[in-house]
Amino acid sequence: MKGSALYLLIMFEDLKNKFDFYIRTKTKFSRKNYSGNINNSEAEYLFDILTNYFPIDFQDNISVLDIGSKNWAYVKGEYDFFKNYSNQLILDGVEIDAYRLNSNFYSRYEIAQFYIKNLQGVNQGVSHRVNYYPDNLLNINKKYDYIIWLLPFVTIYPLQKWGLPKKYFMPQILLQHAYSLLNKQMLIINQGEEEAEIQKTMFDNLGIEYKELGTIKSQALEFKNSRYGFLVIKN
Ligand SMILES: C[S@@+](CC[C@H](N)C(=O)[O-])C[C@H]1O[C@@H](n2cnc3c(N)ncnc32)[C@H](O)[C@@H]1O
Repeated sequence: MKGSALYLLIMFEDLKNKFDFYIRTKTKFSRKNYSGNINNSEAEYLFDILTNYFPIDFQDNISVLDIGSKNWAYVKGEYDFFKNYSNQLILDGVEIDAYRLNSNFYSRYEIAQFYIKNLQGVNQGVSHRVNYYPDNLLNINKKYDYIIWLLPFVTIYPLQKWGLPKKYFMPQILLQHAYSLLNKQMLIINQGEEEAEIQKTMFDNLGIEYKELGTIKSQALEFKNSRYGFLVIKN
């Protein structure tokens, strides 16, 4: 395809994304009270990789942020992992496109409410709270001990395919913001070697120290594209 035709196609796609995104964010339309079948495979995957790649100790209080939670079908994996390390747990998820509809006309927000419903617990000195925020990461200003960030968009094409307007493509600004919220340790997982290389360049550009975890593997779920992990530890 010629350069100008490709440019027009990208502009057209962005216009469509801008329009759709505006409508769904304003109307927040969804069927209510989702109660589908629970699919635990993503949660098992998360629990497994946190157990194998995310070393932490028991603490009085723990706060955790999951960035780009989608419908948070994997939240139980994070919850089951972190609740073992504190009686006072806050687990928050943030998703900029929370009102995107699935083909069954339930939004990600509605489905996330279903997945977090039975994870809360407050009794006898134990307080576990889980919240899903339909918001832009850049609007989050609270500090977190731990941050989990699975598959951030580091190239523009997947972001556009996902249906987001391209003005939201700002991987380095988002990384810098996530780092400013971090107290202790952040896990980032990228898809494919190219994305992992871009991730490393961004760390270097921002002067963020990181540890390469190499390819992330789990028997709970296998993916077509290799996944690469990075641990950021803040002292
Ligand atoms: C590739 S998806 C990964 C979803 C999920 N973490 C997973 O592993 O299945 C990236 C997610 O990040 C969300 N996202 C992108 N930019 C964001 C921002 N600025 N604030 C919050 N979420 C964002 C997208 O809408 C999308 O749901």
